[in-house]
Amino acid sequence: MPWSGVIHQYRDYLPLPADARIITLNEGNTPLVRSSQLAELLAPMTGLELFFKFEGLNPTGSFKDRGMTAAISHAIYEGSETIICASTGNTAASAAAYAARSGLRCLVLVPEGKIALGKLAASLAYGAEVISIAGSFDDGLNMVREIVNRRQITLVNSINPWRLEGQKTGAFEVCDQLDGQAPDWHCLPVGNAGNITAYWMGYRQYGKGLPRLLGAQAAGAAPIVSGKIVENPETVATAIRIGNPARWQQAVQALDESDGLITSVSDEEILDAWRNLASMEGLFVEPASASGLAALKKLIKMEEIDPSNKRIVVVLTGHGLKDPGTAVEKATKPYQLPAEIEALEAYLA
Ligand code: F0G
Repeated sequence: MPWSGVIHQYRDYLPLPADARIITLNEGNTPLVRSSQLAELLAPMTGLELFFKFEGLNPTGSFKDRGMTAAISHAIYEGSETIICASTGNTAASAAAYAARSGLRCLVLVPEGKIALGKLAASLAYGAEVISIAGSFDDGLNMVREIVNRRQITLVNSINPWRLEGQKTGAFEVCDQLDGQAPDWHCLPVGNAGNITAYWMGYRQYGKGLPRLLGAQAAGAAPIVSGKIVENPETVATAIRIGNPARWQQAVQALDESDGLITSVSDEEILDAWRNLASMEGLFVEPASASGLAALKKLIKMEEIDPSNKRIVVVLTGHGLKDPGTAVEKATKPYQLPAEIEALEAYLA
């Protein structure tokens, strides 16, 4: 049967009503790419098997689509006509796309000046009502939480349990792609902490073994690592620029239950890992998506994680084209030549 999205694929594991109309873009089924060079660089001769789950290849370019197919299908089932979210950009783009497919009105609140260009462009193209607020993601989340108490609007942030139901399918896929066996470690970025919560739900439900979780927060936005709300979060990884995660407690519980670790990584470490992925693995991701790898590199170096004969999966949550601005800014400038063959010869020499 051709792939037709995560709900159809894992229907038996999802509590959606049998007669619900499924709104899908055939999300999921993303590749688990084996490391070509980085495993050897990180941990030479240790037998480390390193894999990247490339979630940037979902229909709107991030893992959010797994959760959004479930959240929107359920919203339609309930007769909702309007959805809303606060977002650092990816949730917004995903909500906008699934709303477009189903004819829902879609409002997205984004932090002014702190949303990557590809996310803004997509949200606008899909026809969402994009509202730029003079505040942070956390401010926006407070606003949308309040408005759904006042009006008949469905919240599609990961506070919505259907988002987690959809996103847990990522764990199922990882197990299926590793011949029915969960990895030893599962590394991922943590922002609002929905995804780490969802993956843990998924691994537990699927019964194919449990990995230890490694969560990564940006140093300037690391409330779970520090145990304190961050009033003014700041990081190059704008997707995870969050100071007060909605799923904080569940993330802590998942980390505890999995005997996991959570650590913070500096912008420099994030950008190093981001360059490694593109230049050594051919995997172009947005900066936040490289933070899982940055955390793994750091903890292997500090000998807090022993890579010997381990299978480690790193989730790459969003595509590099989401944030072309940062990519161009952090790269060396293109070399400029006259349009003449001799100039090219001279350059090669
Ligand atoms: N990676 C990317 C690319 C993201 O966009 C996000 C979250 C995360 C990781 C963290 O996932 O929040 O479940 O812990 N982006 C949200 C958004 C906040 O609005 O798009 P999380």
